[in-house]
Amino acid sequence: MTDNISILMFQIPENMNGSVATLEACNGMNGPINGKKNGLLNGKNGMVKQSDIDSADPISFENVNISAQYILDRTAHRPTIGIICGSGLGGLADLVEEPDIFSYADIPNFPVSTCPGHVGRLLIGKLGGIPVLVMQGRFHSYEGYPLWKTALPVRVMKLVGIKFLIATNAGGGLNKTFKVGDIMILKDHINLPGFSCQHPLRGPNDDRFGDRFFPVNDIYSKELRDLAKELAHQLNLDSVVKEGIYTMVGGPNYETVAELKLLSLLGVDSVGMSTIPETLVAHHCGIKVFACSLITNLCVDDYETNLKPNHEEVVEVGKQRAQDLKEFVKLMVQKMATMEK
Ligand code: HPA
Repeated sequence: MTDNISILMFQIPENMNGSVATLEACNGMNGPINGKKNGLLNGKNGMVKQSDIDSADPISFENVNISAQYILDRTAHRPTIGIICGSGLGGLADLVEEPDIFSYADIPNFPVSTCPGHVGRLLIGKLGGIPVLVMQGRFHSYEGYPLWKTALPVRVMKLVGIKFLIATNAGGGLNKTFKVGDIMILKDHINLPGFSCQHPLRGPNDDRFGDRFFPVNDIYSKELRDLAKELAHQLNLDSVVKEGIYTMVGGPNYETVAELKLLSLLGVDSVGMSTIPETLVAHHCGIKVFACSLITNLCVDDYETNLKPNHEEVVEVGKQRAQDLKEFVKLMVQKMATMEK
């Protein structure tokens, strides 16, 4: 009997906010739905037990709201635009005027960054006269965080009032036409971790943020991508700003030659170790997303060379292109602010 259960639906008891959450447990086999709908499973005969599933939701509204309220109580700024700075791109934060600065370590329920080249602080202030929230340093799976934790700050942003997210990252260029220092606008992504059930929203769904099942066809807003291309033109960055498909690997190692060949076959233009969990969580809760990769190195999918990516190079290229990126992001922010009205 237990061998052909494909989906088990059951209810967990009332949680902290008094609502009743419904969980689905899939065992990957084809077969009829268990007749015991909405009943608690007892775990006998090798069946999935309720205790096998994390029923507590660490990114529930209540948990995330503690972080958001901590921030809102300590700043008069009310930003609607959030920015996540990738490796070596934290210099964007220097442009923030009248900042209220929060060390990640001081924000309740917030993770703490451990990566060299990443500062761990959140700034709220003005960029080009527009209120913004800037994350200087982000959280990566390779640091040991589960994906939900790497994306938790995006839910905090939502409760702080963020409506637009700009996510930047450092990426290795797979597209043969890319050069080091190019800026690739994310048109779409391939969520590689998702192929093996790794997802920031795996587990109970808090409907107050978004639906359990949600489409991602337009995760990287076309309106924002078009705007970015227009601004790139104004800034004389036409030859630098590209558009393409991003994918995320777990890291911390860069990819093998065989892995790069596979990613090229899949149509990937830029590969990094972040961003997708954050943009998925943002899109899920209705935040409009713009993301770009700074191409810090070209991926070498060839055995006949000694060229290899290294972290210092990645950080250094970030610094060199920092001025252009800062101007680009500042203009994006100013235009986004007018889109809200
Ligand atoms: N691979 C993965 N992540 C990266 C790379 C890369 O080549 N460059 C910068 N981040």
